[in-house]
Amino acid sequence: MGALRERLERFRDEIVAGRPAAVERQHRKGKRTARERLDLLLDEDSFLELDMFRRHQARGPQADDRPPTDGVVTGSGTIDGRRVFVYAQDFTVFGGSLGAAHAAKIHKVMDLAVRNGAPLIALNDSGGARIQEGAMALDGYGGIFHRNVRASGVIPQISVVLGPCAGGAAYSPALTDFTFMVAETAQMYLTGPDVIEAVSGERVTHAELGGAQVHGTRTGVATFVHDDEESCLADVRYLVSLLPSNYLERPPSAAPCGAAASVRPRLADLVPAEPNRPYDMRKVIAEIVDDPDFLELHEDWAANVICALARIDGEVVGVVANQPLVLAGVLDAAAAQKAARFVRFCDAFGIPLVTLVDVPGFLPGTDQEHSGVIRHGAKLLYAYCEATVPRVQVILRKAYGGAYIVMDSRSIGTDLSLAWPTNEIAVMGAEAAVNVVHRRELAAAEEPAPLRSRLVTEYRERLMHPYYAAEQGLVDAVIDPAQTRAEVARGLAMLRDKGVAPPARKHGNVPM
Ligand code: HXC
Repeated sequence: MGALRERLERFRDEIVAGRPAAVERQHRKGKRTARERLDLLLDEDSFLELDMFRRHQARGPQADDRPPTDGVVTGSGTIDGRRVFVYAQDFTVFGGSLGAAHAAKIHKVMDLAVRNGAPLIALNDSGGARIQEGAMALDGYGGIFHRNVRASGVIPQISVVLGPCAGGAAYSPALTDFTFMVAETAQMYLTGPDVIEAVSGERVTHAELGGAQVHGTRTGVATFVHDDEESCLADVRYLVSLLPSNYLERPPSAAPCGAAASVRPRLADLVPAEPNRPYDMRKVIAEIVDDPDFLELHEDWAANVICALARIDGEVVGVVANQPLVLAGVLDAAAAQKAARFVRFCDAFGIPLVTLVDVPGFLPGTDQEHSGVIRHGAKLLYAYCEATVPRVQVILRKAYGGAYIVMDSRSIGTDLSLAWPTNEIAVMGAEAAVNVVHRRELAAAEEPAPLRSRLVTEYRERLMHPYYAAEQGLVDAVIDPAQTRAEVARGLAMLRDKGVAPPARKHGNVPM
């Protein structure tokens, strides 16, 4: 028995140590090994590994090289004491490429995550489909995608891209709820630089094509971009601390901190009364939520809208807010897609929504119209209309036209609409409205300027005064800005047990 135990121990130690030359190459590239990453991600000594001894059964040129683990470390551990399931691709074994055994291990851990109602975290670092295994590798990927979709909305799924993630492999992160990327080392693309050059002659580097910078600022594929693996994995832990383990659980609460009684006089100073003066909405959010260090998604993509996870009085909320500092806070195609996906995520996992509105409308222009702003704007509209979680809208300043409706207005189902005395809800700004409605009069006038100014004033007084929407019941209360945090906290407490039965149907047809 002693000898057998010794052999087991030796075997395990060898597997954990890996192939020294390959480990060294991995380190030279500025990357950690799969196991080093799991050590950073999970609570100490919490990892239970599955399938450590699994090897591929493929024939052909690779038949004599059958390293245990088959290039992926799978299992379960805890983050702050809460259960998660994980897989970490090991680039030191066949470049982390995915063959049948590698895929079967991933399938197993995904099935366990769903059965146990716990988040799945995937650490990707792979050359893609294992070329030697041909169609079996493709079949393995299909099994992952299928499971990603079946698990969507059941458990949170988090992808962390820490190396190459090429070809169809990139579709798994794209199907999950959040994608982290590390600058310099992570890349995602469907066809790599070599194929592109062969097909079209275009020359591009891996980073230019699909680096973290590209996906964090232009495509929206990366939800979070980090400079290094350590801060990246620390933020994965932070994200998990804000998420429920599955759709049936409430998000994890922290101790209440008296938000319902808190007064924030700074709020009134942060937002200029003039509707067109910019300000940083992040500072407003920081005054409303418990911890000014809230977790912002897609910080550098579609920055004209902010999506963030935070807590108010200890309870997790999803904040959607226009950002007047970028493009004056207009909605456009990218902003609508970003916010729509976030609203749907929050709704799927029972996270109440707080929407802060200061929006001049949708961005006009051929570029937007031709890039499908109607279709993308409809996504956001659809997401809000469908959301059954508690919803609180706060109108800080302007809320014009279709963008007002889309930003969680009363008509599309907000539960509580609060407005500051600076609110201006209207079809459009006063100047633009007067130009349309009084076009003929203004054209005929000898001196149009004073006439325009009088008409603008009249329009403002009649249709844009701060109590107009409240008089019609579109707004539930006009509040002192300093009381915003308190009022939102009270509203969320009121709505805590909200329940809405969805209409009977198979599923809606989201304008994807
Ligand atoms: C088998 C692979 C592999 C793969 C890498 N390796 N990718 N083995 N199948 N797909 C092996 C290498 O042969 C090498 O083995 C080791 O992993 C490390 O690779 P390097 O090339 O030395 O590393 P690096 O220089 O960092 O380059 C990484 C890389 C490059 C950019 C990922 O390896 C590469 O271009 N690989 C091929 C990528 C690819 O075309 N994959 C298929 C995509 S199509 P040794 O023995 O030398 O250490 C796809 C379809 C999926 O994935 C569809 C799903 C629906």
